[in-house]
Amino acid sequence: MYVREILGTLAVGEVISVDDSATQFHVPDDRKGTFDMISVSSRILQQFGSRYDSIKECVQLKNPGGMAYSQCPRVFDVLKEILVVVKKDIIDTDILPSVPLLLTQLESGINVAEFGCATGVILNKLASRFKKSTFLGSDVASEPLVQAREEANIKGLQNVTYDTDNIETISESFKERFDWILTREVIHDLTHPQEALNEIYRCLKPGGIYSMIDVGIEGGITGNIANPSAMFYYSVSSFLCIPESYRKPDSAALGATWGAPLAREMVAKAGFTIINESVSGTDSFEVHFVCKK
Ligand SMILES: C[S@@+](CC[C@H](N)C(=O)[O-])C[C@H]1O[C@@H](n2cnc3c(N)ncnc32)[C@H](O)[C@@H]1O
Repeated sequence: MYVREILGTLAVGEVISVDDSATQFHVPDDRKGTFDMISVSSRILQQFGSRYDSIKECVQLKNPGGMAYSQCPRVFDVLKEILVVVKKDIIDTDILPSVPLLLTQLESGINVAEFGCATGVILNKLASRFKKSTFLGSDVASEPLVQAREEANIKGLQNVTYDTDNIETISESFKERFDWILTREVIHDLTHPQEALNEIYRCLKPGGIYSMIDVGIEGGITGNIANPSAMFYYSVSSFLCIPESYRKPDSAALGATWGAPLAREMVAKAGFTIINESVSGTDSFEVHFVCKK
């Protein structure tokens, strides 16, 4: 009965096709990817539901009210699933082709950091593939780093370490330490994003590259009326990103919809020159800003 009803849902939603007798269902090849999106999106919607009451209280507070991801650690499982299911090829499709010479440098051996790495999905893959390079992953939340370390241990990786750290105040010892720094979907979530960008600049070697992969919506609200992707991002931002960042009176609370123009302005203010911008193959709102020190 459940299968019948689920197939009916997918058929009336035109995700799958159905014959005239309503007994034979078929998944067209060009729709197969939709299932990945549906499985991940349904878990995000579940997060909206479980956070609803807490977020409602935050909205009603006179002072900023927020809710860190670590207050509801299952968020990290959903974020991981996005990288494992939808973004499984991100290194080869969105990261390496966008940064000139990065592949060669990783093969020769460079120092890499990913800030806000959560469960370390990207970093562990990189560490396993580029054995001559060394990788540091950090996140302000300690819970996802447990998973990141476990995965690294299972894979026997000797060239990756994970530490709890705040990207807005990175240790002085990391000054000019890294050749390449990566953040994905982190900067718009921060309490003090400009400080974080300044810190990233400080930690790169002269000439080093910062890959900021982030939501880069163009056109703001008026340019995106009735755009389903924009609706998705505004919702995610209300339930996850604004609560994550809006935890101090002086929080920037940019949210996922901060927009590509502001992103460009802020990396430039930190001292970077953007040498390339590429849009993700799996999400037209996710942009890889390649920034040079
Ligand atoms: C939207 S998640 C992205 C996680 C991961 N990069 C990915 O691509 O799935 C944002 C991450 O930034 C981390 N974060 C938030 N504020 C931070 C801060 N001040 N310093 C370091 N990490 C922070 C969160 O704990 C979370 O893991």
